[in-house]
Amino acid sequence: MSSDAFAAGCPAHGGRTPLYGPDFAARPQRVYEALRRYGPVAPVELAPGVPASLVISYSAALDVLRDPVTFPKDARRWQQGVPPDCPVLPFMMYRPACNLSDGAAHVRLRTAIADSLSRVDSTILRESVERNVEALIRGFSEKGTVDLRAEYALLLPILVFNEILGCPSDIGTRIVVGMRGFVENVDTANSNQIMMKAVAELVALKRARPDQDLTSWLIAHPAQLTDEELIEQIALLVGLATEPEQNLIANALLLLLSDDRFAGDLSGGSLPVEDAIDEVLWADPPLANWAVSYPTQDVDLRGVRLPADQPVVIGFAAANTDPAAASTNRAGNRAHLAWGAGPHKCPSQGEARMIASVAIEKVLDALPDMELAVPASRLEWRPGFAQRALVSLPVRFSPIHIPPPPTPGGQEMGLAGGLATALRNAAPRRSNALVRWWRGD
Ligand code: HEM
Repeated sequence: MSSDAFAAGCPAHGGRTPLYGPDFAARPQRVYEALRRYGPVAPVELAPGVPASLVISYSAALDVLRDPVTFPKDARRWQQGVPPDCPVLPFMMYRPACNLSDGAAHVRLRTAIADSLSRVDSTILRESVERNVEALIRGFSEKGTVDLRAEYALLLPILVFNEILGCPSDIGTRIVVGMRGFVENVDTANSNQIMMKAVAELVALKRARPDQDLTSWLIAHPAQLTDEELIEQIALLVGLATEPEQNLIANALLLLLSDDRFAGDLSGGSLPVEDAIDEVLWADPPLANWAVSYPTQDVDLRGVRLPADQPVVIGFAAANTDPAAASTNRAGNRAHLAWGAGPHKCPSQGEARMIASVAIEKVLDALPDMELAVPASRLEWRPGFAQRALVSLPVRFSPIHIPPPPTPGGQEMGLAGGLATALRNAAPRRSNALVRWWRGD
C-alpha cells in the first residue's frame, strides 16, 4: 500500500487508518492531517483487527478527558472480545492501577500516589538527577560519539526513579529488564512477570524495613493499599516515570540539534531548552495517543457515534496540532494536552519537566559542539500507536575528559543509591550489569 493510501485509510482495514507499522511511525503527523477529514473523531486501528476511535480535535479531547462517567477507563468488557494474542492487549488490559480506575477507587489510588509523591523532596530529587546526569555524561564523554537515546535518555529516568523508590540495585536491574522487554514488545508476558516479581520483592523488603523512600511512603499511606495494589501502582509509576520521560528528553534533544529555530540559538550560546520542551509537548508529545476509555453504551460525541465497549483514544499529538485550536506562539504557552486533563491528569508534570530540562541542559553544556551523527530525516521511530519514541539518537562531539568530583577523603564523590552507585563504579571502566545488559554487551 502506498503511503498516501495508508494515510487516507485503507479499504483492507475497513476504511480505518492503521496507527501501527513503519509508515505511521515515520510520519504520524501526515496521518493525523489526513484523518482531519473525518472531523473531531476518526476511525482507526490500533493493531490489525483492533478498531478504535481517535479523538483528534482539541476541544473534543477536553470533553472526553473531563467526563470520566461517560468515558470510563475499565477495559474489561472490551477485552472479553479481543483474542488473547492481540499485540496491544498487554498494554491496554485492565489492571487495578490508578490510571485505569474510575470513581471512588480512582480517587483512593490517586490520593495515595499524589500524597506519596509530594513527600519526595524536590532538592533531593534535583540532586539525584544532577548526580546521575554527570555520571552518565562522564561515562561517554571521552568517546566522541554516543547513542543519546540508549546511553542517556533511557538510563537517566530509571536511575533516578530507582533511587526515589529506594530500590536495591539487584531489584532495580530486574525491574528495568522486565520493563524494557514489556515496552519493546519482547516476550511481553515473561518481561511483565520479571518486572512484577521484582516490584513484589521491593514491596516485601520495604514492608519489613521501611525507609525514607517512595515505596515506604506508599505502604504507610492511610489508604492502606494491599500488596497487590501497591505492586500495581509502583509498576504504573515505573512505566510512566521512565518511558515518556525518556522520550521527552530524546525528542527535545533531537529538536535542539536539528531544528534551525533552536540550533541557531544554540551556537549563539543561549540554550532555549524550555522552549524546545514546550515545542515537543505541543507537536511531538511523548504519549502521542493515549488516555484510552471505554464507553459502556453508544455515545454521541460532537455528532459522531462512538460504539459501546470500543476504545476511545485521545490523540494528544493530533489534538495539540488541531488547526482550530493551533497557537502561533507556543513558546511559554503550556495549554497543550501532553499531560492529559481532567481527573487523570498527570500528577507529576513539574518533576517530569525538571528532570528533562536538567538532562538536556547539562549534556549540551558539557559537550557544546555536539551534532547529530546522521541526518534527522534518517532517524527511525519505534512502531506503535502510543509512544513517540526514537529507535536511536546517534551524536558526535569533541571528546573530553570529565574528572570525577573529588571528596574530602580523596575518593570519588559517592553516587548514593543502588543502581547509581553500581553505575558510577563501573562506568569509566566497564559497565555494571545493568549498563552492560542495556548496551547489549
Ligand atoms: C514526560 C513525562 C510524562 C508525560 C508526558 C506524562 C503524561 C501523562 C498523561 C498524558 C497522563 C494522563 C493519562 C490518562 O488520562 O489516562 C498521565 C498520568 C499519570 N502520570 Fe504522567 N507523564 C509523565 C511523567 C510522569 C512521571 C515522572 C510520573 C510519576 C513519577 C507520572 C505519573 C503519572 C500517574 C500516576 C498518572 C495517572 C494519574 C491518574 O490516573 O489519576 N507521570 N501522565
